[in-house]
Amino acid sequence: MDSWIAPGRVNIIGEHTDYNDGFVLPIALPLGVVCAAGPTADGRVRLTSAQRPGEVVVVAVRELAAQRDRVPGWARYPLGVVVEFTRRGHPIEGVRLEVDGAVPIGAGLSSSAALCCAVTVALRELFAPELTDRAVVEIARAAENGFAGVPTGLLDQSASILCTAGHALFLDVRAFTAPDGPEPAAVEQIPFDLAAAGLALIVADTGHPHDLADGAYAERRAQCEAAAAVLGVRALRDATEADLPRLADPLLRRRARHVVTENARVLAVVDRLRSGADPRTIGGLLTASHRSLRDDFEVSAPALDLAVDAALAAGAHGARLVGGGFGGSVLALVDRADDDRVAARIEQRFLTAGLSAPRVFTVEPAAGAHRVA
Ligand code: GLA
Repeated sequence: MDSWIAPGRVNIIGEHTDYNDGFVLPIALPLGVVCAAGPTADGRVRLTSAQRPGEVVVVAVRELAAQRDRVPGWARYPLGVVVEFTRRGHPIEGVRLEVDGAVPIGAGLSSSAALCCAVTVALRELFAPELTDRAVVEIARAAENGFAGVPTGLLDQSASILCTAGHALFLDVRAFTAPDGPEPAAVEQIPFDLAAAGLALIVADTGHPHDLADGAYAERRAQCEAAAAVLGVRALRDATEADLPRLADPLLRRRARHVVTENARVLAVVDRLRSGADPRTIGGLLTASHRSLRDDFEVSAPALDLAVDAALAAGAHGARLVGGGFGGSVLALVDRADDDRVAARIEQRFLTAGLSAPRVFTVEPAAGAHRVA
């Protein structure tokens, strides 16, 4: 069987902007999910996972949709991809899938999108090579939103499919999802060579799992839609700071202020990186993003705030929670010479607070999904 790999991601900046038609700037992680796949002629999907030794999930392709509640939670992600291929008129007679994931689960690093994307690129090459990257992103997202039942935007899947090594992906979600196909300016690869600038990106997985299915994420989305409706705009992407006083409800005003200012921060970071400015100068914008997520969007958690504070106190140029929030990981931009010291200080602060030490590692912008040679 051939194999494909799709990475997890960390988002440099642009959190909770994707479902508001806004801007995001992720990198792909050098950690991914590998999917080995091969066609069969027996009308079934046969699925195994290296993380679930001994468990074999076998379902008839024709019965997949009806079997949803009978298959284990983890299997709904890959099986959901098969459902989406069939639903979109790309028939799959039968297929064998073996997945093996190296992205920490529940860490806010998009292990589930990596899983769906690995399966999607595998099935594209085997059954529907005409599919565009945008279609692949949409299928992976639909599998997660539908069969797996997790209401994500398309940040994670876009990062996993479209990122390239050494770059951050500047994605304009509205332009990417335009009805007639992605607009030319929707996707831009921004050079992000941290090593050349003597910098490193640290990720600290706090070990406090986040769970997008628990309702708080969907509630934030609904609040954003409500704020856009009050302002009379299609999405909060179209609102400006001058509009905010028109939101009489202080809660909706705070939610909207996060989205409006976060989009502006993404554009400011992209401007600096494009102009070749010292990447250290984006640090303040990263930290401002965290404060906005903490105070206006209210998706932080004590362990995330602790990791951010510890990183900043240890000399990080900027730090913020990544992903949906409520738990998961923090990202810190540090001088390369300092990375071990900052990591040690974060660990120490957790232990002093009586919490188990986070898993801290350094990341480089890696390649998006591809076939494994
Ligand atoms: C999760 C979702 C993404 C995005 C982020 C917040 O990771 O899956 O679509 O909304 O939260 O930026």
